[in-house]
Amino acid sequence: MCGIVGYTGAQNAKEILLEGLKKLEYRGYDSAGLALVHPGTLKVVKGTGEINKLEEKINGDGKDSFAGIGHTRWATHGRPTDENAHPHYSCCQNFAIVHNGIIENYQQLRQWLEGEGHKFRSETDTEILAHLVEHYYQGELVEAVRQAVSFVEGSYAMVAVAAGEGDHLVCARKDSPLVIGLGEEENFIASDIPALLAHTRRVYILEDEEMASVTSSGVQLFNLQGDSVSREVFEVKWDAVEAERGGYPHFMLKEIMEQPTAVRETLRGRVDAQTGEVSLSELKLSSKEIESLAKIHIVACGTAYHAGVVGRYAFEKMLKIPVEVELASEFRYREPLLSPHDLVIVISQSGETADTLAALRLAKQQGVKVLAITNVVGSTVSREADDVIFTWAGPEIAVASTKAYLTQLVVLYLLSIGFAFIRQTGEEETFATYGRSLLDIPDKIDQILETKSLQKMQDYAAKLAGSENAFFIGRNLDFAVAMEGSLKLKEISYIHAEAYAAGELKHGTLALITSGVPVIALATQEHVLEKTISNVQEVKARDGDILIVTLKGNEQVENHAQQVYYLPEIEDLLAPLLAAVPLQLISYYAAETRGCPIDKPRNLAKSVTVE
Ligand code: G6P
Repeated sequence: MCGIVGYTGAQNAKEILLEGLKKLEYRGYDSAGLALVHPGTLKVVKGTGEINKLEEKINGDGKDSFAGIGHTRWATHGRPTDENAHPHYSCCQNFAIVHNGIIENYQQLRQWLEGEGHKFRSETDTEILAHLVEHYYQGELVEAVRQAVSFVEGSYAMVAVAAGEGDHLVCARKDSPLVIGLGEEENFIASDIPALLAHTRRVYILEDEEMASVTSSGVQLFNLQGDSVSREVFEVKWDAVEAERGGYPHFMLKEIMEQPTAVRETLRGRVDAQTGEVSLSELKLSSKEIESLAKIHIVACGTAYHAGVVGRYAFEKMLKIPVEVELASEFRYREPLLSPHDLVIVISQSGETADTLAALRLAKQQGVKVLAITNVVGSTVSREADDVIFTWAGPEIAVASTKAYLTQLVVLYLLSIGFAFIRQTGEEETFATYGRSLLDIPDKIDQILETKSLQKMQDYAAKLAGSENAFFIGRNLDFAVAMEGSLKLKEISYIHAEAYAAGELKHGTLALITSGVPVIALATQEHVLEKTISNVQEVKARDGDILIVTLKGNEQVENHAQQVYYLPEIEDLLAPLLAAVPLQLISYYAAETRGCPIDKPRNLAKSVTVE
């Protein structure tokens, strides 16, 4: 998730672009750059660090440039380095590109372009676009961009400039947002509305597989076949702060709503829609090493630890090998017994959590391979682990983790399915079915995020907000989800919440269930459904207030609770990917009702880099 800006008009382009980039810093960044158009030439200035550093680097340059593009990078392909920063330019340096998204077939395209004599300077997927545009340019930038994107598989929001085309910017999008701001004798492009608000509130929102030709005097929209497209002007009514949150009152809600996209991005290029096979070619671990794995240790903190608990069930079921999950703060001081054929998987959204990092180092010292699951390219965890697989959730800003958690689950499922194919621990068709079902998850989350369904969560949360205690219960994978549900509720609403394995309730906690005490029972796992319902009965007998979260098709639970929430149907193994979402919403709405500072809960930090 990077930030993109473009400008063409009568004002100094450098100033407008830098100011626009600063407005996008909230999206996270590790490097930044500009390409400024001068008559017959392009000036590209870029490098790692903040926008201020870029500003210093440009210094007095670019005073007489009135068109250009800019970018803040949140690394995906390629570490955060000067060479990998955008804009990227072609061999002849006459074309420069900024891009947001992931080009899946970049390795094939790079090979082909290198065969055609193109020289690459970076490790990024984006640089492909600059060379493709150069390759297809025959005097018309619009046509060259149209041809270039037609070869690209994956997602993109991109803007191109050419030395020979004056104030002309050409942009295109697929699965990554892009808006065009309309001014008087000047026009703007941005990945996000906040970058435009200082100049205009009139925008065209580019749709998927559309492109635009933008000059100071006008904007033309096309589809990728080259046919012109007409669009109504959208008047932005948000204030600047609302715009940063995409119009949502809090980043947390924005990030909950972004989950279908985050999951889609994390799956992109990793599952074959036909065969259901999972591609783990990005891993350094060889098939032989995967085949000889004796045990997996999953180590993490907070929400990432809860993702690990789901991972344990998935790995054990699919791989039939023992899996331990442990809090990094405990693991590092426990003298864990690790063997050469073990694999340690560390999970960390930020890739900087001190305890997780210490656990990683401990495992490495003992000569055991460490595979990291993280959301931040270039983070310490990603650099120090032997192997890394990224979640493509984009920057997560709210302290309470939502989309990072869901994408961590996706990666854990991908690993368990991928490893199962390699180790042949069961029927291939079963693994393939799981693989294909993962691809349906984004649409199913979308169903949970429909207004009617949100209203249900809101109504329940309004009631819950009046309680000082709440309990989450479940068995098996439902217990894992219950743990995350209870953490979410306590961290943002300050309601005391605990998660219990449903069968354990009667061994103590049942003493706390009195009339009206809220109990959220997760009941998605068919093989323990009856058992869970018996535990729900124990709560009902004490007049507890029960919400059951289950899958469609389990209507037999209806009479056992005051409220039932039905998730779309899915294989039991994958149910956590759906069940977590209503729990996030309940926590969010309960915290909202209680007037809590949702994005920055008291005493908590997004990334804990101290012990
Ligand atoms: C902090 C955050 C949690 C997060 C945990 C682990 O406590 O508030 O939301 O789950 O750190 O962070 P990591 O970046 O390692 O996933």
